[in-house]
Amino acid sequence: MTPMPTTDVEAFVPAAIQFNDVEDVIAFLDALGASPMIEPGLVELDHALQCAAELKALRPDDEELQVAGLVHDIAHGRCHIRDHDRVGAEALRPIFGDRVANLVALHVEAKRYLVVADDGYRARLSPVSIKTMELQGGAMNTAEIAAFEAKPNAQDACLLRMADEAAKLAGRDVPGLNAWIDTLRHVASSRS
Ligand SMILES: [Fe+2]
Repeated sequence: MTPMPTTDVEAFVPAAIQFNDVEDVIAFLDALGASPMIEPGLVELDHALQCAAELKALRPDDEELQVAGLVHDIAHGRCHIRDHDRVGAEALRPIFGDRVANLVALHVEAKRYLVVADDGYRARLSPVSIKTMELQGGAMNTAEIAAFEAKPNAQDACLLRMADEAAKLAGRDVPGLNAWIDTLRHVASSRS
C-alpha cells in the first residue's frame, strides 16, 4: 500500500486502509519516508520515529505505547484529517490488538483534553496542530472531559500526545525504522 502525500490539512482521500499483517505495516511505514508531512521540513516517517523515540525514553518497558506512537498517524492522507485517529485505529486493531488501537484512537481526543486540563500544553502546539484541532472539535467541554478521563487508556494517550507535539523537529537524529522492526513484530505476535 502506498501512502498518499499529506500537504493539505483539509485533504480528503476516500481510500480504504487495511493491513494484512505486521510486515504490511512495516512496508507502509517505510514508504512514509517519501511522504511529506503537513509540518514543514519533515516527512511522515520522521514524525513517527521521533514520537516513538520520545515514548521509549519516557516508558522504556512499554512496547505497546512505543508502537502506538510509531503508528498513530498512519491514516494521515487516507481519510479526512478529523477522522484519521479512528480510521487508523481500526486498521491497526487486527495487527497490534486493542490497547495499541485504543491509544491511536485517543490521540486526537487527548489533544482536545490537554488544551483544557494542562495550562502549558496549548503553547506546545504547532500552528498546524491548532488548525487541525478546530477541524477535530476544538477544546473539550465539561462532559467530554469527564468521559475522556474515565477511559482506561486516557493517561497513556496523554503521554502519546505530549510525545506527538515533541516529534516535529526537522533534522532531529533518532533511531531509524530498522531499530523498530523487532518491537513491531513482538507487539503484533503478543497482541491481546
Ligand atoms: Fe502525530
